[in-house]
Amino acid sequence: MRNNEMDKPRSKRSLRVKIISMGNSEVGKSCIIKRYCEKRFVHKYLPTIGIDYGVTKVPVKDREVKVNIFDMAGNPLFYEVRNEFYKDTQGAILVYDTSNRASFESLDAWLQEMQEEIGNKSEMDNVVVCVCANKIDKKRAVDEVEGQLWADSRGFSYFETSAFNGEGVGEMFQALFEGVVATAENGRRVPMQTQLGYTKDQIDAIQRLKNAKTDYDRLGVLPGASKDEVNRAYRKLAVLLHPDKSVAPGSEEAFKLLVASRTTLLKKCA
Ligand code: GTP
Ligand code: MG
Repeated sequence: MRNNEMDKPRSKRSLRVKIISMGNSEVGKSCIIKRYCEKRFVHKYLPTIGIDYGVTKVPVKDREVKVNIFDMAGNPLFYEVRNEFYKDTQGAILVYDTSNRASFESLDAWLQEMQEEIGNKSEMDNVVVCVCANKIDKKRAVDEVEGQLWADSRGFSYFETSAFNGEGVGEMFQALFEGVVATAENGRRVPMQTQLGYTKDQIDAIQRLKNAKTDYDRLGVLPGASKDEVNRAYRKLAVLLHPDKSVAPGSEEAFKLLVASRTTLLKKCA
């Protein structure tokens, strides 16, 4: 007699994963999840109370992945509720609102909260994090380069999203699930592609050039610096940022700022 079980096609290998959402209140965490799971957008702000839970199934390569999503409330009032839910997280969407600078500036505090609650450093390092720069359909207060650099410098993937029109949401979740599955298969997090190709020194130099208020600050020299000092500072930064040498996002703009500041300062020395 034949064994019927043997005749069945092998079912897809299944996997259960835990995903959380993090980020200030009103940045759009629930709307991003709703856009992905229900393909719709809710205009009215309905704050998440503590935590929302949902399950969805997605195919990733040859696996059927059952995704448990814990959507956290961003308001500090709900800290005591959401802090229970960080443990055993495999993937996270870390969301800020591109039209609200404070929400971008809070990202490090969210990482810190996650680190404190998870405790174990290697467990934290294995969480796959996708940074979502959300509400890109609105007027921006944080540009793409700044967000990308923040994510890259921490080894996270960066996505521009709009829960309003759906842009970037599907790609972001697909990358998140693929990252989580790869981590489960490898036993540890696989480095993100975007990390490669440039250094922290390059990132720091780009940020300083972009954010500095004066030409002196851009080059990192004191007012009254000599021609030699200006040229030395210029060369140090030019080596890091020359567009032929640097693939870091924002290098080209930063290099232009560097050249302009050097020209202005050399005129002052003359
Ligand atoms: P908490 O649950 O309080 O932590 O907030 P949340 O991060 O879950 O925010 P939620 O998804 O509830 O969205 C907050 C508000 O932003 C709502 O009024 C949404 O309609 C709006 N919103 C969310 N995403 C977008 C977006 O991509 N574009 C625009 N224009 N509005 C958005
Ligand atoms: Mg919410």
